[in-house]
Amino acid sequence: MKKIYIIANWKSNKTILQAGEWFQTLNNLLASRRSGQLTINKEKKEVIVCPPFTLLPFVKELIVNSQLSAIGAQNISPFNEGAYTGEINAKQIKEFADYVIIGHSERRKYFNETDEILEKKVKMALKHNLAPIFCTQGVNTKIPQNAEIVAYEPVFAIGTGNPDTPENADQVAKQIKEKNRIQYVLYGGSVTSDNVKNFIDMPNIDGVLVGGASLDAQEFYKIIQKA
Ligand code: PGA
Repeated sequence: MKKIYIIANWKSNKTILQAGEWFQTLNNLLASRRSGQLTINKEKKEVIVCPPFTLLPFVKELIVNSQLSAIGAQNISPFNEGAYTGEINAKQIKEFADYVIIGHSERRKYFNETDEILEKKVKMALKHNLAPIFCTQGVNTKIPQNAEIVAYEPVFAIGTGNPDTPENADQVAKQIKEKNRIQYVLYGGSVTSDNVKNFIDMPNIDGVLVGGASLDAQEFYKIIQKA
């Protein structure tokens, strides 16, 4: 059986209180016999949560007593430490996280991130031993060398309730792998507990990046269960 990634991207959501409640609900569901008492085999299913920067220290503590595998950041500075007001650099992120999402279409759209900036970000992440989860909108997006995990996220599917078809996503994933020698390609865009299995079952899709549906612990639990 292939190894799969299930990644929660909380985007700009949740306070400390809400993050605490999310973990409590998820942990209870995983432990409760009524909901199936699920033990996540971390060798086969990596469940990663990507909270906003403000929650990284708190989530790092909570993750110890949970079944989740790791933490990811949602962004990274293209620069080293120094006089870059408002930026969080790779060394700082590495204190809390092992992964970082780079190149999300929302960063391209609202923060004008270009291929050039994204390439710098990937280099910075790799230099500090952070695994990039590089987002691409299709086969033609430039993917920087050594991006370890790629998430295919078509813009029309993000937050719209209108996912790509598993068949098309699989074809795109296949082409991304052939073109770039990427080992893991995930699908993202309106993934829910109802459709996750259809994507995971595709031969070239190695997991999912979940936005909106990851905010609700109960729904995210169902996604983990069904994947
Ligand atoms: P969505 O977002 O699941 O809310 O569509 C996915 C993403 O943007 O990573």
